[in-house]
Parts: sequence; C-alpha cells; structure tokens
Amino acid sequence: MVKICCIGAGYVGGPTMAVIALKCPDIEVVVVDISEPRIAAWNSDQLPIYEPGLDDVVKQCRGKNIFFSTDVEKHVAEADIVFVSVNTPTKTQGLGAGKAADLTYWESAARTIADVSKSDKIVVEKSTVPVKTAEAIEKILTHNSKGIKFQILSNPEFLAEGTAIEDLFQPDRVLIGGRETPEGQKAIQALKSVYAHWVPEDRILTTNLWSAELSKLAANAFLAQRISSVNAMSALCEATGADVAEVSYAIGKDSRIGPKFLSSSVGFGGSCFQKDILNLVYICECNGLPEVAEYWKQVIKINDYQKSRFVNRVVSSMFNTVSQKKIAILGFAFKKDTGDTRETPAIDVCKGLLGDKAILNIYDPQVTEDQIQRDLIMKKFDWDHPLHLQPKSPKSAVKQVSVTWDAYEATKGAHGICILTEWDEFRTLDYKKIFDNMQKPAFVFDGRNVVNADELRRIGFIVYSIGKPLDAWLKDMPAIA
Ligand code: UDX
Ligand code: UDX
Ligand code: ADP
Repeated sequence: MVKICCIGAGYVGGPTMAVIALKCPDIEVVVVDISEPRIAAWNSDQLPIYEPGLDDVVKQCRGKNIFFSTDVEKHVAEADIVFVSVNTPTKTQGLGAGKAADLTYWESAARTIADVSKSDKIVVEKSTVPVKTAEAIEKILTHNSKGIKFQILSNPEFLAEGTAIEDLFQPDRVLIGGRETPEGQKAIQALKSVYAHWVPEDRILTTNLWSAELSKLAANAFLAQRISSVNAMSALCEATGADVAEVSYAIGKDSRIGPKFLSSSVGFGGSCFQKDILNLVYICECNGLPEVAEYWKQVIKINDYQKSRFVNRVVSSMFNTVSQKKIAILGFAFKKDTGDTRETPAIDVCKGLLGDKAILNIYDPQVTEDQIQRDLIMKKFDWDHPLHLQPKSPKSAVKQVSVTWDAYEATKGAHGICILTEWDEFRTLDYKKIFDNMQKPAFVFDGRNVVNADELRRIGFIVYSIGKPLDAWLKDMPAIA
C-alpha cells in the first residue's frame, strides 16, 4: 500500500487529502499538523473549515484510509510521498518585508523530513511558494540526507474555497513539475498515478519544476487582474452612467475573453491573490524587472482603491460622517460558502468605517464573533501564522463592533447596510421588514451586486450598487476617492 503523509492540515491540505483518500482506497493518507486543536477538529464532527461537501468526503474515509495526527515525525518517516502544505506568510520584517514569502514553516517542515526519513521519498510542494523554492528545499534535504534520496515535485493546487470539493473532483488540470532526470521523471509518474485514479490523463500536465511553480503565481495574478480590471471599469461606469454588469456581459461574450471572473465587487480577498502577487512583484524586482513588477503591483493598488472608494461612498452619502451612526455589515467572509476571512475586503471596509467612528453590527452566517474581533485587531499579514501564534481576542477588543447571528437583528435601528459577501440568503431577505426597522433615510451599499436595486428603491431605500448608474441622492453627494 502506498503511504502518503501531508504536512499541514489547512484549507488546502485537508480537502485535497480527503479527496485523494476517497478516490484511492488503495492508498493510506495521514494528514499531520503541529496545531493540536486543528487536528482534534479534523477528528471531530465539527471540521475546522466550512466547505460544502467536505463533511461527507471526510466521513466516508476517516478511520479507513485517512487519519489526522499531530505525530508529524512518525508519519513522515513512514510515508512514500510527503506533501507539504504549510502556510507561507508574507514577511513582515527584514529583507523583502511586505512582499517576499516567509518560508520559515516550509524550511522547518523540510528539516523535519530530512531528520526523520529512513527511506527514499518523493516530497511534493503543495503550498504556493516563490519560484525556485523547490531547488532550495532540495538543497536542505540532500545536505541533511544521510544517503537517502529525495525527489522534489511541485504540484500546485488550484482549488477555490467554497467549491473545493467540486474543483478537486473535476479539476481543469493537475500540474506536476519535476526534474528532467530519469529519477525526476519516475517521481512525476508516481504522483501522476495517484491522480490518474480519477482525473483523465489529458488533464494531468507535466512540466519542469520552475514552470510549475511560476504557473501557480501566474494563474492567481491573471485571475486577480481580471477582477481589478472590471473593478477599475466599475468606477468609470459610475462616473459615466454605464452599467458594469452589462459591460461584463458584453465583453465576456468574446470567446477570447470568456464570461468568468468578471463580477465587479468591493474587492477581491482570500489568502492567495494578494500574497501571490506581492511575491511575484518581489521576484520581478529581484530579477531586475522593475517594469514588470510595477505592472502587477497595479492590480493590488486598484483592489485597495476599490475598498477605499466603497468606504468613501458610504461616508459621503451619509452627509460626510458616519460618526456614532449604526451601520449593519452583512457578510464578512471573503466570498460566499466559506467561513474564511483571510484578507477579506470586509476587514478594510470595517476598519475604514470604524476610523470614521461608526458603530458596526456584523452578521455572517459562517464567521464567529471571535474571528471577527481577531481580524479587526490583527496586524497586516499576521493571519498567516499558525493559530497559536495569532493574537487572542479580548472580548472588549473593538467596542464599537457587535456581532449577531441574524441579518434582521443586525439591521435593526441601523442608518445603513453594507453588503460585503455575496451569500445567497442576502438576495431573499424581507427588505420591507428591514426598511421598517431602520433609521431614515435608509441606505443600502451593495458591494457584491446581490440585491435587486430597483425593488429596494421602490421600498424607499437609497441604494448604491458597485458600477451601476447612481441614485440622484448619490450623484448629489459625490465620493472623493
Ligand atoms: C483587434 C480586436 O481583436 C478586434 O476585436 C477589434 O475589432 C479590433 O482590434 P486586430 O487589431 O485586427 O483586432 O487584431 P488582433 O488579432 O486582435 O491582434 C492585435 C495585435 O495583438 C496583433 O499585433 C497581434 O499580433 C497581437 N497579439 C494577439 C499578440 O501579440 N498575442 C496574442 O496572443 C494575440
Ligand atoms: C483563488 C483561485 O481561484 C484558486 O485557483 C487558487 O487555488 C486560490 O486562490 P479563492 O481565493 O479560494 O481561490 O477564491 P476565488 O473564487 O478565486 O475568489 C477570490 C476573491 O475574488 C474573492 O474575494 C471573490 O469574491 C473575488 N471575486 C471573484 C470577485 O470579486 N469577482 C469575481 O468575478 C470573482
Ligand atoms: P493553506 O490555506 O495553504 O492550506 P493554512 O494556514 O490553512 O494554509 O494551513 C497550514 C497549516 O500548516 C496550519 O494548520 C499550520 O499549523 C500547519 N503547519 C505549519 N508549519 C508546520 C510544520 N512545520 N509541521 C506541521 N504543520 C505545520
């Protein structure tokens, strides 16, 4: 029986290994992590991450051919293939601070592999890392190997949260990069045979190590760039009276452009896009390519601009102040169908409103009060460190913030509502009931274009939708970005 061990039981490692276990009954998978609470949660009925379909998959194979453990050394030692799926935060100090990837956790995982291995192993890079990390890891492993042979592969994961299980069941492609030597090719084939249990052969692409590593950064940069492009258009639409949804639809009909990833929003979030672009920028700068670095930096600048533009719109519409005004925040996760808040635009929007002394009442169907409080006090980039190193959340952390478990409760007595995540339930709320319980004039700022703005206007709301023609009210109160 082939044995797989995955170091890192996070958003990538957990679901990916669960699907490998489900699809490959002849393989034993152990997912290990240094975080005891995280492993305990994987072994319980309350999994540490919310992901549609994940519970089912885990239930089907947990205890049969997938196990979750904190005994990193034992399971790494026993494995034939070791996946490394640890966090790679952005550096906050030293060389490359604010841009470069901090490979501390990766290096520590690599040293553990070198220390405990007694047999040859394939080591698979699953976390997104800078180009040429595999080479560095190879050096650590071979210089500490005691004669054991390691083959390094890069096998970046392209799943998106909220659709992780679907994406893993039917990936657009699986990418495997390895050395061009006979041993490297043999390792590629071994990993390919794992995925071949369920992925059609023509969707498994093989390449060299660096191309695989760079493809992941490039894919995320291209996706984020589409969002920043459409968000830049949204500002122009508001200024000219065009409708960004119609523009997106029209351009998406061009088969060279395609219809996906063209939804204008309050900004993209998630653990990958910003981090990977910063990383790309840093690599370009290090390679003497400042023009290329500047090009990609702009994607992040527009994303920041979009978030501050939204805050400015809220404040300017409400007579240039939200001081002591109650604002309901509907949605805090970075997208629907996940409880993940890493780099969610809601953090910057809430901080912006709090900066103007607003009182926030937040509701998200999947995010806990503790998480929200922690996010609002945490320093930039701190979120990507293991949980036990993150700041605890004192109950009184941000006093002007309260968290409720119901959209109606959150909006009661509010002056305005900001919709920051596109949860389906926000489309079908009883907005008449909500309007009746709010202060007047009552505002809705739809950062995800989920509500029917005309219907809400008929109820009496003043509605701002990203990239759509503005109400007379909003035209009279121009936002200054
Ligand atoms: C373009 C648009 O495609 C068309 O829809 C619009 O109506 C007019 O402008 P055109 O300029 O005729 O059409 O040719 P196009 O095929 O778009 O190529 C434009 C330039 O981009 C060419 O120099 C082409 O060589 C270059 N190109 C195109 C690339 O460098 N790489 C590519 O992948 C595609
Ligand atoms: C992304 C990539 O899609 C995935 O391939 C990679 O493996 C990890 O990073 P993820 O961050 O989970 O996945 O979610 P994604 O669906 O890409 O959304 C990222 C952000 O962009 C979200 O905040 C989302 O709301 C936003 N978004 C997405 C838009 O604002 N508009 C869109 O049209 C699409
Ligand atoms: P991703 O979104 O890439 O999956 P996460 O932050 O969700 O990232 O998960 C990474 C996991 O890796 C965390 O649970 C963290 O505790 C774990 N981890 C980090 N370093 C090590 C290590 N050296 N050994 C085992 N687990 C580790």
